Amino acid sequence: MKPPNHSSDRSRGRVRGLAAVLAAATAVAVGLAMPAQAASTLKASAEAKGRYFGTALTRGDLGISAEVNLAAAQFDMVTPGNEMKWDATEPSRGSFNFGSGDQIVSFAQSHGMRVRGHNLVWHAQLPAWVSSLPLNQVQGVMENHITTEATHYKGKVYAWDVINEPYNEDGTLRQDVFYKAMGANYLAIALRAAHAADPNAKLYINDYNIEGINAKSNGLYSLAQSLVSQGVPLHGIGFESHFIVGQIPSSLQANMQRFADLGLDVAITELDDRILMPADSSELQQQGTDYGKVVNACLAVSRCVGVSQWGVDDGHTWIPGTFPGYGAPMMWDSSYQPKPAYTAALNALNSAPNTSPSPTPPVSPSPTPPVSPSPTPPVTGACSATLTTVNSWPGGFQSEVTVRAGSSAVNGWTVKWTWPGGQTISSLWNGTQSVSGSSVTVRNASYNGSLAAGASTTFGFTANGTAATPAVTCTSP
Ligand code: G3I
Repeated sequence: MKPPNHSSDRSRGRVRGLAAVLAAATAVAVGLAMPAQAASTLKASAEAKGRYFGTALTRGDLGISAEVNLAAAQFDMVTPGNEMKWDATEPSRGSFNFGSGDQIVSFAQSHGMRVRGHNLVWHAQLPAWVSSLPLNQVQGVMENHITTEATHYKGKVYAWDVINEPYNEDGTLRQDVFYKAMGANYLAIALRAAHAADPNAKLYINDYNIEGINAKSNGLYSLAQSLVSQGVPLHGIGFESHFIVGQIPSSLQANMQRFADLGLDVAITELDDRILMPADSSELQQQGTDYGKVVNACLAVSRCVGVSQWGVDDGHTWIPGTFPGYGAPMMWDSSYQPKPAYTAALNALNSAPNTSPSPTPPVSPSPTPPVSPSPTPPVTGACSATLTTVNSWPGGFQSEVTVRAGSSAVNGWTVKWTWPGGQTISSLWNGTQSVSGSSVTVRNASYNGSLAAGASTTFGFTANGTAATPAVTCTSP
């Protein structure tokens, strides 16, 4: 990507005296609000709000134990930094290599984390053999790449960045090899191929400098509107969010909301907030303010499903390599110590009112039927529940439970089941669990207990053991 927002770098002021005073005031304010919540983690606090909090990890990161331990403790979603890109997965035509991507997936699965697949079609990290193809071969090669990769990871990724960074800054589509071969149709063709290969994955367009309302996001908005109206399987927009400290666009929330209003999920996918080095304490406090603003913007948009930081700590980030002189963009410093940004993000999660992503299904084609649903009971009582296995791997699995109100509205629900073979839940979201031996009881979270007549909500979990679909019961007081 090109450096975003460079013009504003030139004009940034460094009024350190005043800033230091303001920083001290902010620190006191943050400190006063924290003690009751400081024991929590980003993932627990995000899950309590029906969201995830993610990170990007590369295969190299997996060998750094301090970094991955922190990642596993704090995050519940992983985006592979490079390992699923075209240059890694199909370096020569028809020769696929998923080894590195698989390592990230198994790390995620073994720590109860979900995976955002990144990415299927992008002008960068694209092998030269693709860019130099005769144009009449590009569509076939693109569809084959998408089909092969999305099939390989079928059921293992929560979402795919199907198309990455398709826009120029002026809101026109980049004239890359895909555009040259297929025109603007390449986006719909790519989305349809990905949907056919993995009908349950949420399919995204992901880009940078689209966080505020501007020419670039306007271009994407028009395209998204058109794709949705044609029934193309587009399910979400990823806002990368590579920010410069103090420069969070004031229209971030409104911008995400207008995409959400099209019936799309939205997500902050690659958050970082760089500082001209060396960073002083006022800049670190400002960075905390920035992280808090971003988290609050996501929480304020009911279809914002989560926030991912692009990395873990300041010692392992792409920023200095691409923006010489800049650094310190993460929530942890290079000694893995939490920065004001971490405190602010956690505090924003913990103090926001309860909202959760809308259960409204996407406007585009509905997902295929669940892989292994438990029998759907007739809704004779107040509510019913259906448990579906959405993903499984050796030693573990992921399930989703849909809770549906009967002919009357319910205010609070309780779902129960008994594990048949010693399974144990490792991570559960959108509900609160209590376990007694093999008996599991899940009650609604604070934000999803009220269901109108016939309305539904879902909760999910990852578990250890062999995938099972026990009979589930639902009761409501
Ligand atoms: O694999 C080669 C290695 O063989 C070689 O020795 C080394 C020498 O520099 O380079 C290695 O490749 C590097 C690659 O990461 C894998 O580590 C590239 O130089 C380097 O440019 C590449 O950077 C990645 C960048 O995407 C490329 O555009 C970053 O790690 C990655 O964090 C970054 O991620 C992107 C997202 O995918 C899309 N949005 C922006 C974001 C930040 O640029």
